[in-house]
Amino acid sequence: MKLFCILLATFFFTVGSSESILTCLHDANIPSRWVDMSRSCTKGLEEQLHKEIQASRTYLAMGAQFAEYSYNRLGFSEFFFKSANEEREHGIKILEYLLMRGESAVDFNSLMNMLMDPVSASWSNGLTALTSALDLETNVTRSIHKVIHTCEEDSKFNDYHLVDYLTTEFLDEQYKGQRDLAGKISTLSKMNYELGEFLFDKRLLKGEV
Ligand SMILES: *[C@@H]1O[C@H](CO)[C@@H](O)[C@H](O)[C@H]1NC(C)=O
Ligand SMILES: [Fe+2]
Repeated sequence: MKLFCILLATFFFTVGSSESILTCLHDANIPSRWVDMSRSCTKGLEEQLHKEIQASRTYLAMGAQFAEYSYNRLGFSEFFFKSANEEREHGIKILEYLLMRGESAVDFNSLMNMLMDPVSASWSNGLTALTSALDLETNVTRSIHKVIHTCEEDSKFNDYHLVDYLTTEFLDEQYKGQRDLAGKISTLSKMNYELGEFLFDKRLLKGEV
């Protein structure tokens, strides 16, 4: 079987189809009893991955809007672009977690092709965008709670490790981020509208608010 597999792989390699090689390797006799995530739990993580990527896209749109010359709020823009990168990192962390646990039930390619929700078109000012960002993060936090619940309550397998990982790595950052946004909203909403936003933007660029 092994020899056959190598021959087959060599054949497909020479004709240039890498997919068949992968299929062949999947058939190899590699132990898989250690792969123990339940499907309900991996499904929850897949959905969470989409939420993180969706959040990243929303922040990209915010970052771009505030950099437009008609807005010219470069502090806000930089802040949201940074948030977009962080959300993308969260997505990668979820992918890496699934790979670390040996998940093969997840089809990573089709996962990337799943349809995304449209991103809200525009935000009328900095305060609206920050408020929307806090709402978005609150939604993400609730969604992480849901995944934790699913992975804990699965009748066949309580996924202690993932639940701990989501709680310490993800929820910790969510609550700190939400506090940060709420503080920014508080400061900005106490400032005089247009001049206030201008000054807040300058401070944001320097990391002072
Ligand atoms: C958060 O979730 C609520 C309820 O599902 C939804 O109406 C709202 O648009 C979401 N907010 C953002 C910013 O995605
Ligand atoms: Fe996130």
